[in-house]
Amino acid sequence: MRPALEAHVREQIAYEFAREGPPEDFPELPPVPGGRYTDPAFFELERQHLWPKTWLLAGRDEDFPETGSFRCFDLAGPPLVLVRGDDGVLRAFYNTCRHRGAPVVREACGRAARLRCQYHSWTYDLAGRLVALPDRRDFARLDEADRGLVEVRCETLDGWVFVNPDRGAIALREWLGPVADDIACLGGSGLRTLARREKRLACNWKVAADAFLETYHLKTIHAKTVANLLDHRGATMGLLPRGHSRMVTPKWPENVEAEPAPGMPDIATATPIFRDTNVSYTVFPNLITPLDTIGFPFICFWPIDVRTTHVEWTWYAPADESDSSPFWSALLGAFDRVMEEDFANLAPIQRSLESPALDAIPLGYQERRIYYLHQHIDATIGTERIPAKLTVPPRLAPDTEAP
Ligand code: FES
Ligand SMILES: [Fe+2]
Repeated sequence: MRPALEAHVREQIAYEFAREGPPEDFPELPPVPGGRYTDPAFFELERQHLWPKTWLLAGRDEDFPETGSFRCFDLAGPPLVLVRGDDGVLRAFYNTCRHRGAPVVREACGRAARLRCQYHSWTYDLAGRLVALPDRRDFARLDEADRGLVEVRCETLDGWVFVNPDRGAIALREWLGPVADDIACLGGSGLRTLARREKRLACNWKVAADAFLETYHLKTIHAKTVANLLDHRGATMGLLPRGHSRMVTPKWPENVEAEPAPGMPDIATATPIFRDTNVSYTVFPNLITPLDTIGFPFICFWPIDVRTTHVEWTWYAPADESDSSPFWSALLGAFDRVMEEDFANLAPIQRSLESPALDAIPLGYQERRIYYLHQHIDATIGTERIPAKLTVPPRLAPDTEAP
């Protein structure tokens, strides 16, 4: 993070500790309608107009080590396959044969010289071109050039691979904007995937995502865990362009270590704020990153249906770390328990949203990132498409940040 921005964030933390209420110019936030979490029509709007129009985390560059390395991605809409080409370029395609639609790849991941559909053996090269089909004489009018696999945007930043079905989308780096600037010092391309976890949750994906956007719940849900590390009263939020946001929560003074402890994993290039606070981003819409200088997880919430979410969290750490070391097995276990503390609430909240008891959610000042996420979901879907009773009207503007 830039020194001027770090200084600005530290001033904001001091302000948050001292304030006696929300800032005077903080707007009134209308309650968030419960139907956004329960109405199949809203889920359908997201399916049509949110997920196909945004960059989504689909893996890591090292998941595709060689020419022909492929991996399926099937978590937010039509199934995709990502594959490393002969030219070294990583590309993403719909995993749909252009003959009669069978998947061209059935294995979750692997390596192939060509992508050959198992139904009738139409065969595509690693750039998606249709290069062979049996009984070619029976397709007299077929033009191979029109029947290549349909490509989806695929770009990589600091080792993280994102896909976007929207061909007109702005480039990943520009879309991430300040998030990419801030985390560049973590040297993402030098990290490696240390561990992966996943779980099904009986709630809408936004019930789960909302739970990671504030620290208001630390003293209750995480009383014996995270609350011993972080002081939520100083948490400060940065509302960033394109629906992203930043939350910086100070550590209790006794937990601040200016230098890495001997023998601990360490991302030495991280700027000081990543060491003495917890810096967490929402990468719009479904990626949460509680960062740390020892290594950190990226948490993604994927919509299965209106009341089912698939959550994945993947740990990245300096390349010489191993998840079987005593340090990491203890840390991963402790983090899993924190996740369970969060998850325990979510299915009951979904049931409450489906009961007459909770028709809308009133949000406090500390919960403003939740409002900002929902506001930007509506902007992406197109407010005019959303029934008035389900909208979250725009009230929050991106912050003006330090130069
Ligand atoms: S559906 Fe793929 S070859 Fe026929
Ligand atoms: Fe939590």
